[in-house]
Amino acid sequence: MEFSTGELEILPFDSETSDLVVCGLALDHCPSLTEPLTELARVTRPGGRVIVSGINPLMSILGGAAHVKLDQGERGFARNHAHLHSDFLTAFHAAGLEVQRLHDPRYEADHVALKRTAMSLIPEATLAAYVGLPAVVVWDLRRR
Ligand SMILES: C[S@@+](CC[C@H](N)C(=O)[O-])C[C@H]1O[C@@H](n2cnc3c(N)ncnc32)[C@H](O)[C@@H]1O
Repeated sequence: MEFSTGELEILPFDSETSDLVVCGLALDHCPSLTEPLTELARVTRPGGRVIVSGINPLMSILGGAAHVKLDQGERGFARNHAHLHSDFLTAFHAAGLEVQRLHDPRYEADHVALKRTAMSLIPEATLAAYVGLPAVVVWDLRRR
């Protein structure tokens, strides 16, 4: 297996070389969907499958962000851009990607258990706040 690094806006792969392309929880950090989705479509063979996931935009609108620990032990966060479903549909259409299915599961208790800091301090309130809220979106797409 080979690993490469690169930017979503300029993928380091030749055009129409992949049967399956997966992009997990990264588009939330891109201000525009147009360039990354154009690139994901470009490297996919016609008829190939593209799976794209993201935080449900409702959670980003409510302030959801990716929290990280920095080198010096400080806490930081990467902003989530709230891409609405209509933004995705517009960008898919422009990139030549057809929607096959959309999965948008809600938080269940075992997902909320992963929110360790809040669960260690106020578990009942954390569960009450999260369970049932929309968690992520997973788009299952086909390249035209
Ligand atoms: C929340 S993490 C998800 C990591 C992993 N894909 C997963 O599902 O566990 C977000 C990732 O998106 C990457 N990312 C954000 N903007 C990017 C961009 N413009 N090009 C490539 N990667 C990007 C970050 O480096 C980070 O690794």
